[in-house]
Amino acid sequence: MGADLEQVLLTQEQIHQRIGELAQRIESDYAGLDVVFVGVLKGALMVMADLTRAMHDTAEVDWMAVSSYGTGTKSSGVVRILKDLDKDISGRHVVIVEDIVDSGLTLSWLVANLSSRGPASVEVCTLMRKPEAMKVDLKLRYIGFDIPNQFVVGYGLDYSEKYRNLRVVGTLAPHVYA
Ligand code: IMP
Repeated sequence: MGADLEQVLLTQEQIHQRIGELAQRIESDYAGLDVVFVGVLKGALMVMADLTRAMHDTAEVDWMAVSSYGTGTKSSGVVRILKDLDKDISGRHVVIVEDIVDSGLTLSWLVANLSSRGPASVEVCTLMRKPEAMKVDLKLRYIGFDIPNQFVVGYGLDYSEKYRNLRVVGTLAPHVYA
């Protein structure tokens, strides 16, 4: 699988260390508060697993699955819920856990949707952010890495449902797309 990569952008060690730092910050920011971590399937799978396991306190996790209507590889911001949260979030502090924020359209929709359910707060933790995301008015409280505007796979991120189980994040070699 590694042979399909052109370049490794984030190593296992870099990801592990940064996730540990974010977990520590989140735990101290939310000390004593009722928090639920909301992940977006499927990309956030690995981030959620490692982020919550890096915490010392128990962490409650819930999941949503959404499909974004778009043209080609760009999302449009028009989103349909495929799987909603299992639990009510009213009065609770929500931390959305994301793999990557690209255009930010999907996340903007999600923040607005969850905010309308009466939570105590809604914040975002994303492992990666691409430059395009800076153009939308979206507050990202916890950011792992800023990465270049390239298509990346691994650590939960896929290309045609492949490569999610790579331990690193990298770009694909041209022969994969051929
Ligand atoms: P956005 O709405 O443009 O921010 O898109 C967000 C979603 O698109 C992410 O949660 C990913 O699932 C997917 N995505 C964005 N960039 C990449 C990438 O480089 N590789 C794989 N998936 C990506």
